[in-house]
Amino acid sequence: MFKVCDLRFRYPGNKEYTIKGMSFEFDKGEIFGFLGPSGMGKSTTQKLIIRILRNYQGEIFYKGKDLKSYDKSIYNDIGVGFEMPVLFTKLTAMENLKFYRDLYPDGAKIKPILERLGLWEDRNKRVAAFSKGMKSRLNFARALINNPNVLFLDEPTSGLDPTNARIVKDMIAEFRHNGGTVFLTTHMMHDVDELCDRVAFIADGKIREISSPKDLKLRYGKREIRLEYKDQDSVVKEVFNIDTIKENAEFFNILRTKDLVTIHSGETTLDEIFIKVTGVRTDE
Ligand SMILES: Nc1ncnc2c1ncn2[C@@H]1O[C@H](COP(=O)(O)OP(=O)(O)OP(=O)(O)O)[C@@H](O)[C@H]1O
Ligand SMILES: [Mg+2]
Repeated sequence: MFKVCDLRFRYPGNKEYTIKGMSFEFDKGEIFGFLGPSGMGKSTTQKLIIRILRNYQGEIFYKGKDLKSYDKSIYNDIGVGFEMPVLFTKLTAMENLKFYRDLYPDGAKIKPILERLGLWEDRNKRVAAFSKGMKSRLNFARALINNPNVLFLDEPTSGLDPTNARIVKDMIAEFRHNGGTVFLTTHMMHDVDELCDRVAFIADGKIREISSPKDLKLRYGKREIRLEYKDQDSVVKEVFNIDTIKENAEFFNILRTKDLVTIHSGETTLDEIFIKVTGVRTDE
């Protein structure tokens, strides 16, 4: 769907390049996670791919054609949920969505989207009176308003309570299920695990890793099983190597004869992989 080759970009006036040679692609029907520490260029890359920032070096292809060869009609295909909600605060939610919808030839039905996002009752309220989470949901609704084929979402669940985050994630998954493609930037590794088919980790303007969450967890994890079991009055911990476990009599003996407290495989989490690959903690 999109192919990015050796992309480089420097903001005018900055000495250093923000994007220092990135190559990746994402396909139709895929949710592609674009992850990395704050300030490393995720939003910048997204803005380059959707042509808000220009003057880049390298190449970007959309459906096999150079991005530069497209006119504005490319925006009929693309829905964008910006990092900062792009909304008119003096207008109501409904007025905002109608305004954006009427810019496109194939506008979406507003009512089902607002109902799903729990904003239908508030449709006639001015956006200035919206809470952060309400604005965030309306920003997501705005991204869907032109019935896009590709969605670019920059931290779509930021500021949402768990129930609303669930709704947004379900809508993203359904969008993909119906053939849509998603470029997703987020700091929520749990969302990534749940939604993304593949992820790229970036740091220092470069791609550090690209793979599926499952593959990364296997590659960065330890091939081990950790047991905790009761032994008289104490709890004993033991670690077994997965590769030799089928011949390990002690392991099976524990399972048969002891009361287990916990059992875990050594698969790591995306949070841990994030820290390892990018060298930055997400909770900083
Ligand atoms: N308009 C601009 N002019 C100059 N530098 C900019 C501009 N916008 C962003 N930058 C710089 O580019 C770098 C990347 O910013 P970007 O917003 O792409 O980061 P990010 O990865 O999206 O971070 P976050 O996770 O915090 O959203 C930062 O160092 C930032 O200061
Ligand atoms: Mg950003």
